[in-house]
Amino acid sequence: MNAQIEKLYNISSSDKKWIIGLMSGTSLDGLDIALCQITGAGIKTKVEVKHFKTFSYSNEVKDNILSVFARKNISFEALTLLNPWLSRIHAEMILSALKEWNIKPSEIDVIASHGQTVFHSPFRLHKNKEFGNATFQIGDGDHIAVHTGIITVSDFRQKHIAAGGEGAPLALYGDCLLFNEIGVPTILLNIGGISNFTYLPGNEIFKGALVTDTGPGNTLLDAVINKFYPHLSFDLDGKIASSGKINYEVLKLWKSLPFFSESIPKTTGPELFEYSFLITMSKEKLGVDLYPQDLLATLTLLTAETITDCIKREVPNWKETRKFGSGGGCHNKLLMSHIQRLLPGSNFLNPSILGIPGDAKEAVLFAVLANETLSGGNTNYGDNPSVCMGKISFPS
Ligand SMILES: Nc1ncnc2c1ncn2[C@@H]1O[C@H](COP(=O)(O)OP(=O)(O)O)[C@@H](O)[C@H]1O
Ligand SMILES: [Mg+2]
Repeated sequence: MNAQIEKLYNISSSDKKWIIGLMSGTSLDGLDIALCQITGAGIKTKVEVKHFKTFSYSNEVKDNILSVFARKNISFEALTLLNPWLSRIHAEMILSALKEWNIKPSEIDVIASHGQTVFHSPFRLHKNKEFGNATFQIGDGDHIAVHTGIITVSDFRQKHIAAGGEGAPLALYGDCLLFNEIGVPTILLNIGGISNFTYLPGNEIFKGALVTDTGPGNTLLDAVINKFYPHLSFDLDGKIASSGKINYEVLKLWKSLPFFSESIPKTTGPELFEYSFLITMSKEKLGVDLYPQDLLATLTLLTAETITDCIKREVPNWKETRKFGSGGGCHNKLLMSHIQRLLPGSNFLNPSILGIPGDAKEAVLFAVLANETLSGGNTNYGDNPSVCMGKISFPS
């Protein structure tokens, strides 16, 4: 037997594993690295987050990704070069985090790498009958494995598509295993570049469990900041938006986009929610050209309303649910105040009260997915595709 298969077999058979979960979402803010100690599998999974760190992307990394990100016409050469290049950057970040935490790479069993989405194209977006759902992540797992010396599980989304899904959101799987409490219906909202939520009705067999994107999260807000306030990374606490005036006519126009009324589960990305497309729409249809602060004020409310409209429509008992909030958007005070006003009586808890900090949650969920691929695979997730996701790369 190949010694690496034997090592993998031993890791898979072990009840306790050290798994690094990686997440770099559509916000392009950086790479989240969560070092988790995971015991058990399936509904017996227990996670302890031992360390967490976000490495911000340098402008060079951001610009290189942006050159191929969510665009229809790109340099194929640039894409080809970026694929291994980004892996090496991620590998260096992992090694540097381990050094900081005083942990040797040989102590880590597995890396779970999401990669960087460069194009997300479900059928609902491209509508070309010849093709189905599609999504593409770069930052190949082989390169991470070789550069870190750690077995790497990566490219989780393809199997979900092969099994009939849109490749996203995958949060449901980890949410089912970590947050399901019998008799306690729960909503888990994540506001990354795009917003999504999981609903767990609180039964043993995940009957009625659902997950969907709702539309934009931080992506439109960040794009406006990038364009009009290039010295800033984002609208800290929603302060600039708070100084602007909401244009309700424009808000109504943007909310008429078909995506918002499509049935769930549905997924989207910056391919659709691109701010210049929305600006052109309001200029052409209403003759309105908003000042940057008014644009931010209106987009912040658009983000909040499309999240809460979807929750209210899809979760009739939303008032009786326990609610958790995660992702960078939960730090945006204005956005969260809109959401709480639109869902009266709601309090979005940080999942850190259950040991998983909101900023680390997505990276942790990928660590859990890798754990399932190696040691689980027996859980049925209700109406959602129940498959083991991810490809395994050996270091040598
Ligand atoms: N204090 C804050 N105020 C407003 N927005 C914030 C704050 N902290 C983080 N964010 C937003 O969160 C984004 C990062 O969120 P994240 O969950 O990492 O998204 P992704 O998964 O797409 O990478 C930032 O780009 C920014 O827009
Ligand atoms: Mg991020």
